[in-house]
Amino acid sequence: MKKAMIILVGAGLIASAGSVMAAGSVAKGENLAGRCVGCHGVGGNSTNPEWPKLAGQSAGYIAKQLADFKSGARKNPLMSGQAAGLSSAQMADLGAYFAAQKVTVGAKNEALAKKGQNLYRGGNSKTGVAACMACHGPAGGGIPPHYPSVSGQHAKYTATQLRAFKRGDRSNDNKIMSQIAFRMSHEEIDAVAAYMEGLTAR
Ligand code: HEC
Ligand code: HEC
Repeated sequence: MKKAMIILVGAGLIASAGSVMAAGSVAKGENLAGRCVGCHGVGGNSTNPEWPKLAGQSAGYIAKQLADFKSGARKNPLMSGQAAGLSSAQMADLGAYFAAQKVTVGAKNEALAKKGQNLYRGGNSKTGVAACMACHGPAGGGIPPHYPSVSGQHAKYTATQLRAFKRGDRSNDNKIMSQIAFRMSHEEIDAVAAYMEGLTAR
């Protein structure tokens, strides 16, 4: 039953996001990526925990986020200016470049991560939180292009995104993540974010 639902959700996303899925060029993306280094780090491995790592993220997901920052569907004062001047071909090139980079895995908070593991793998049946693993993969690699990789990501960035989904401040997700995060407690958010930082799929 659960599996069937997830497949249906996936099919809907594919139909709606088709326009940003053109394959990009790694070489062209590398030329454009110089302006991203200041915040996202060399090769997309940001060292500031508030700025997400892009290394090893799926190309399609990166291109979609850039399109959403440009259109205003996802709001962030630092990123909207960055995305404003990019064409959809350039977004695909940047996606291809960062997808080809290797992520550096961070040091997780062990005690918190232990609490987060159960939620990540099994969800919370009492409050109706779905298992993260179903869409983001057992080791956090995601299911490209629509379900992003979450492995090795800074816990601070991840927790900020989950709270933004919970409040409704990030709403470019076809209501998938907002409905999940809405049911999560702040303790669960911090624990699962710590667990995901230690995952090593990408
Ligand atoms: C001045 C700092 C800054 C620069 C320069 C910058 N970014 Fe960002 N970027 C951010 C911040 C901060 C976020 C997190 C936004 C949020 O909280 O929603 C972000 C988020 C993103 C995301 C979403 C990642 C995810 O996991 O959802 C993508 C993709 C991205 N940036 C791509 C780029 C690209 C490509 C460039 C260069 C063309 C770039 N950024 C330049 C600060 C920056
Ligand atoms: C039914 C599928 C599904 C499930 C289950 C799911 N997610 Fe997601 N998640 C998504 C999709 C789709 C996106 C990307 C939305 C977009 O395009 O912006 C996403 C995005 C995210 C992001 C943002 C990543 C980034 O780089 O900004 C985080 C963090 C996240 N999910 C965490 C979780 C956690 C924690 C759980 C479990 C409590 C979970 N997800 C369960 C589908 C799912």
